[in-house]
Amino acid sequence: MRHFVLIGQTASASADFSLENLPSSSGRLDALLRALRAALLVSHDVRRDVCVYLVLRGGPRAPRVLRVEGARVKFLRPDERSLAILIKKTLEAAPPVLPELTELRPGIHLRDGDLADLLKEVGGAPCYVLEEGADDVRAQPLVNGDAWFFLGDHRGFDVGSRELLAARSAVPVSVGPVSLHAEDVIALLNNELDRRFNAGL
Ligand SMILES: C[S@@+](CC[C@H](N)C(=O)[O-])C[C@H]1O[C@@H](n2cnc3c(N)ncnc32)[C@H](O)[C@@H]1O
Repeated sequence: MRHFVLIGQTASASADFSLENLPSSSGRLDALLRALRAALLVSHDVRRDVCVYLVLRGGPRAPRVLRVEGARVKFLRPDERSLAILIKKTLEAAPPVLPELTELRPGIHLRDGDLADLLKEVGGAPCYVLEEGADDVRAQPLVNGDAWFFLGDHRGFDVGSRELLAARSAVPVSVGPVSLHAEDVIALLNNELDRRFNAGL
């Protein structure tokens, strides 16, 4: 299973955002939704071997972690507005307190908590931090199994997240010499994994 974690330092953990003005009203949830699409969707299909986690640190209900499972999710469409509607409805349906991971729609789970709580789920699987300037992912012996990939948002990573990932011995890797948007980094990573292993569709 490929696990992609996007740390949204300002992304809204509640449904109080406008679909008409998503980037500024949602704390750049739009960037996370594009990354979600890149992680999970291929042409006319869903990657069933992918799980995406959005760490939502913006707004009054934060922090929360939203998990989307490729093997179970339904009605996932590639356009940003449809994804925003789906996530808004999920957040609207959430009770105010959610200590345990709870499935609110098929394949979409939500819980209270932050990166530190999510890292408890990793177990012994290898972890990678996607960083421009790090060693090339092509030189890494990636595994064909459980692996976790952590990405920053438009601001990159905060110091606390870096420390947590370093304590977990996450390996910094780069997908190339240019600073890219998270969605493009995920597309390249999925491509690298597809070339080495089965695509898992
Ligand atoms: C839009 S970029 C962040 C740019 C931000 N200004 C910064 O200084 O980090 C979003 C995320 O994509 C990932 N990323 C961007 N370029 C990358 C590259 N060449 N290799 C690996 N990861 C990259 C990193 O995880 C980064 O935090």
